[in-house]
Amino acid sequence: MTVVTLTINDRLISAKKGSTILEAAEDADIFIPTLCRLKGLSPRGGCRLCLVEVEGSPRLTASCITQAQEGMVVRTETETLGRYRRMIIELLLTERNHVCAVCVMNGRCELQRMAARLGVDHVRYEYRYPDLAVDASHERHVRDPNRCILCARCVRVCDEVEGAHTLDMMGRGIHTNVITGMNIPWGKTRSCTSCGKCVQVCPTGAIFSKGTGVAEMEKRQDFLAWILSGRDDNIWNW
Ligand code: FES
Repeated sequence: MTVVTLTINDRLISAKKGSTILEAAEDADIFIPTLCRLKGLSPRGGCRLCLVEVEGSPRLTASCITQAQEGMVVRTETETLGRYRRMIIELLLTERNHVCAVCVMNGRCELQRMAARLGVDHVRYEYRYPDLAVDASHERHVRDPNRCILCARCVRVCDEVEGAHTLDMMGRGIHTNVITGMNIPWGKTRSCTSCGKCVQVCPTGAIFSKGTGVAEMEKRQDFLAWILSGRDDNIWNW
């Protein structure tokens, strides 16, 4: 196995050639916050929470999509990174309607937990309060875009694991949304197998099963444990 040697937070780390900075850090028990990344799915680089500083690079680097290189010098905890990460969480919280008190994922939500972990106890930006329609047309599941952080985990698990290709992303910028089929109600799609994998991987309460309460949603843990197998910073162990 070819390895590369890099420095992360003043520690000399050996990583398998081809692994990302994030994977190298995880193997060395160095925590880097993530939201869109889920082991077992292709990396997306969408949430930017995993930003790190790489010596010689003029910009912050998304560690989940950047390969570890020989001689790289990386910092994962700096004042700048902390500031950016908190800002990202605040922007996510204000972009949609995240009302934890009435959410099925309250207490199990990865966004909520990440906010707590990064010390986000208030937001400095105006809430946008978008008016987004909930799709409850599927016989088993509900899609609530008000709680979506556009991580695309649902899209990727539907494509890459289930092979159903029912979910996709549509639109640009602030108008980006997860859609079902060719932007038709979920219940009218023919490709959906009702497997529920999208429910299991959603980090928030944007996709959930009908009739589920908080206790039921905790069963997601089993599926995530499978998909995260081998990952030391399993978010559920916090
Ligand atoms: Fe790297 Fe989201 S975890 S960009």
